[in-house]
Amino acid sequence: MTDQVIIFDTTLRDGEQALKASLTVKEKLQIALALERLGVDVMEVGFPISSSGDFESVQTIARHIKNSRVCALSRALDADIDAAAEALKVAEAFRIHTFIATSALHVESKLKRSFDDVVEMAVRAVKRARRYTDDVEFSCEDAGRTGIDNICRIVEAAINAGARTVNIPDTVGYCLPTQYGAIIADVVQRVPNIHKAIISVHCHNDLGMATANSLTAVLNGARQIECTLNGIGERAGNTALEEVVMAIKTRQDMFNIDTRINTQEIHRVSQMVSQICNMPIQPNKAIVGDNAFAHSSGIHQDGMLKNKNTYEIMSPETIGLKKEKLNLTARSGRAAVKNHMSDMGYTEQDYDLDKLYQAFLHLADKKGQVFDYDLEALAFIDMQKGDEDRLTLDVITSQTLSGLPASAFVQVELDGQRINRASNGGNGPVDAVYNAILQIVGMDVKMSHYSLTAKGEGAEALGQVDIVVEYEGRRFHGVGLATDIVESSALALVHAINAIYRSQKVADVTKNLKH
Ligand code: KIV
Ligand code: ZN
Repeated sequence: MTDQVIIFDTTLRDGEQALKASLTVKEKLQIALALERLGVDVMEVGFPISSSGDFESVQTIARHIKNSRVCALSRALDADIDAAAEALKVAEAFRIHTFIATSALHVESKLKRSFDDVVEMAVRAVKRARRYTDDVEFSCEDAGRTGIDNICRIVEAAINAGARTVNIPDTVGYCLPTQYGAIIADVVQRVPNIHKAIISVHCHNDLGMATANSLTAVLNGARQIECTLNGIGERAGNTALEEVVMAIKTRQDMFNIDTRINTQEIHRVSQMVSQICNMPIQPNKAIVGDNAFAHSSGIHQDGMLKNKNTYEIMSPETIGLKKEKLNLTARSGRAAVKNHMSDMGYTEQDYDLDKLYQAFLHLADKKGQVFDYDLEALAFIDMQKGDEDRLTLDVITSQTLSGLPASAFVQVELDGQRINRASNGGNGPVDAVYNAILQIVGMDVKMSHYSLTAKGEGAEALGQVDIVVEYEGRRFHGVGLATDIVESSALALVHAINAIYRSQKVADVTKNLKH
């Protein structure tokens, strides 16, 4: 009989905290629903005390998720724990995760306390969290650099106080696999009440060891892995979910253990996370990179034709990667679009069929054939859009003549009113269009990131532009997708401006509530 490893996903907490611009509540909910279908046991979705936006997204996700346990993070402080419980209480099943640093370096320099104080705070925090739920996780931050005696002491105290999961993070990605495995083995052997709790591991990838460390920990008795899709997270990231899950599945001979992950969902969720989080995946990334199942050399291709096992240790279909590329045309109806989306694994909960169909027709008019991956890209854009946009783009034209400044003409609708503006003097067509749009909205935004990616294949690919703009000290992400890259750029700016308007509306509501 195989035993189970709990997959604790922290894409929406540790992953999200490392993004260039925070996600909206809607974007987080889309990812949470996808994680639920992926089959994660626990999803950590935020740090409610940190901001009203985080509180709201934890609460919204907690309300919608039924098949995974929803978890929120809190420091070992009463107010943090109370905020986490308040945000989570609408959930069907929830966990409170409380943590405090335990390494001498953190205890002395950051917390400026004694280790005895830290143990006392941990015990108090776990007990307080237990007032709200039986499912309490305690983490010793920077455990990877904490002396083993102190780890064992605080873990034992946390379990006595009621923690049912004890997490041993390698917060700064410092440990090597043998060393980290030995820490877990020591905890198993030396903590007398360890049978009352699950040992969890949370590794960062600063030395590229996160996956190896997590798996070595499992071989030594850990039964929960904390991880993120595509390994996103602080600095070099966290353990990649897809790597540990596929390693456990592919190397059953070593692990004889299982996860509840529906691996067929991995590719789709990985793409969604990359897109919504604006975090591209490196082509050679294990499991989910574009080249992960590509065979380039003649010798390899020859081997594959003779017997796939020569160069393939797992099949692309296991992670839901489909080889055939189906296409639609402007004559395809709504039902065809819906069928293609469902073949790719999307339900109508993931996208708005009316909006997707309109976007599809617009693209089919321009492009002729629309492939499944185009449809998926359009659906992702829709997932990132807010519900009501104040600003929409009607027309743009731009002109460049070599050696002369660029000019542009833009027509938009702002709050239902049609406005035109021409601009001259841009250093290129995108700059000229941006100047015109920014003049219309009268905003002083600073562009901190601009990237252009080809979505799809060859000359038929769509151009996707992702931007991050700074406005009044906050960062906003905008994305645009079109056959024309000046149009994608304009759409990305319009998207970011609508996000700014939406945040102002939220701020106004909060201000009115305070008076
Ligand atoms: O890396 C870390 O130590 C953390 C804790 C909050 C678990 O993210
Ligand atoms: Zn972390």
